[in-house]
Amino acid sequence: MEGMHHELRNLWLGLRTDCARMEERLDPAAGQRLIEHGLAFCNELEVHHDREETFLFPKLADRMPEFGPQSTLVDQHKKIHVGLAALKRYLLDCHIEEKVLDRAHIRAIMDTFSEVLLAHLDDEVYALRAERIRWHWTLDEFRKIP
Ligand SMILES: [Fe+2]
Ligand SMILES: [Fe+2]
Repeated sequence: MEGMHHELRNLWLGLRTDCARMEERLDPAAGQRLIEHGLAFCNELEVHHDREETFLFPKLADRMPEFGPQSTLVDQHKKIHVGLAALKRYLLDCHIEEKVLDRAHIRAIMDTFSEVLLAHLDDEVYALRAERIRWHWTLDEFRKIP
C-alpha cells in the first residue's frame, strides 16, 4: 500500500508544483500536459479507492472496525471524492475547451481536499501496519484478501 500511496502523493505534489509554474502559462502544450497529468491522477486515485471500497475494506472490516462503513478512513474517502469529482470535471471541461485553463483555479480546487487526501494516505498505511494486521489475521488469511 505504501508504494501506491507514495506514487499518488508524488503525482499530487507534482500537479501542485506544475500549477505554480508561471513561466509556462502561455504555452498551450504545457497546459495540455498539465490537464493530462491531472486527469491521470484522478483516474489512478478513483481506481485505487474503488478497489479498496469493493474488496479490501469490506473484508478487513470483518475483524477491524477501522475499515468499516462508519470509519474515519471511509469518511476520508467520501470527502476526497467530492473534491476529486470537482477537479476531474474542471480538467475535462478544459480538455474539451469548454473552459479556459486557469492554474489558480486548479490549485483552489486542490486546496479544498489536499489536507484530507494527504492525511488519508498516511492514516491508511498506519492502519495497515504489520503488527495490527498480524493481531487479526494469519499470513495465509491475509494473502487471500484481494
Ligand atoms: Fe490506499
Ligand atoms: Fe484509501
